[in-house]
Amino acid sequence: MSEKIAAQDTCVLVTGGAGFIGSHTVVELLQGGYRVVVVDDLSNASAKVFDRIRTIVGDEAAANLTFYEADVNDRAALSKVFDEHQPDRVIHFAGYKAVGESVSKPIEYYANNIGNTLTLVDVMREHGCTSIIFSSSATVYGDPDSLPLTEKSPKKPATNPYGWTKWMIEQILTDLHTADPAWNVVLLRYFNPIGAHPSGLMGEDPKGIPNNLVPYVAQTAIGKRDAVHVFGNDYDTPDGTGVRDYIHVVDLARGHAAALAWMNGRSGVEVFNLGTGTGTSVLQIIEAFSKACGHEIPYVIEPRRSGDVTANYADCSKARELMGWEAQFDIDDMCRDSWNWQSHNPDGYEG
Ligand code: WQD
Repeated sequence: MSEKIAAQDTCVLVTGGAGFIGSHTVVELLQGGYRVVVVDDLSNASAKVFDRIRTIVGDEAAANLTFYEADVNDRAALSKVFDEHQPDRVIHFAGYKAVGESVSKPIEYYANNIGNTLTLVDVMREHGCTSIIFSSSATVYGDPDSLPLTEKSPKKPATNPYGWTKWMIEQILTDLHTADPAWNVVLLRYFNPIGAHPSGLMGEDPKGIPNNLVPYVAQTAIGKRDAVHVFGNDYDTPDGTGVRDYIHVVDLARGHAAALAWMNGRSGVEVFNLGTGTGTSVLQIIEAFSKACGHEIPYVIEPRRSGDVTANYADCSKARELMGWEAQFDIDDMCRDSWNWQSHNPDGYEG
């Protein structure tokens, strides 16, 4: 059983806290009064995000933030963080996340994502910390038999090494609790995180050509890409294009703060879907983004992308009933905030 402690007395270690979802979560935690320690190797993030966080939360709250540039798999560096801060809770974001890249680089994905998790939980155990929230994904449901997806929907074999790492890490953390019931595990299965902080100071900043739809649409909207490539329009959906449950990154970040409060004083393993419950197609995203940016966004229809499912969207009633959390932003909010970020930061944080 984890000790019940007030937010002001709680230190949260956020691995991958300089990344897209991690940085937005750090903002919510600091605004909630938590002390926050970030470990990030900056392999897919910029340290400039911490200046933006300070601007958003203010100097007083930012004084509760400490950043270590380190690889979570670096046991000595991680032990030093625990020695110096004695984290009470861990939110584990750090990991490679490009589906396509994972197919061509399985060794790197398993070594990094699984390896850093095993090092993390071993160092946690050595320091008596057994409370962890894991950044999982709807990808563990595979190609759904029925929709909407609930937490009881069956996990399916993954279609790529990235998906398998999410699948396996959920199993590793579940087995930890089976071995020692003191472990306090929350598995958050995200649907499709998009959008940006309403301030326009933080947002998605993928390196190279974006793998995901919305950053690609955003870069097309500012003229960095010629056209959006729509991967298939012959799916069994209303307009033939793929349907997903897009969730605003700030809603997702608030879901982590809600999970921290909910798990306080508990132990066990609990799974929550974090989505909106609404499915939106690729063409509907392009239309909503055109409305947000004020001009048409060119697109071309391409063949389907291998590994894509036709549709998925969530039933999030469990998060609402147990944690009192529910997504507040809609697709227009997500596109408005994504456009605001992209148009003010055409080259991301390094611009
Ligand atoms: C969404 C829709 C594509 C790009 C993956 C992971 C998930 C999470 C988010 C990391 C699909 C279509 C896409 C493009 C397109 N992981 N598309 N043109 O594949 O649902 O989810 O990323 O954060 O765990 O599984 O997201 O944005 O790649 O695709 O037409 O250039 O957009 O076919 O229908 P996906 P996505």
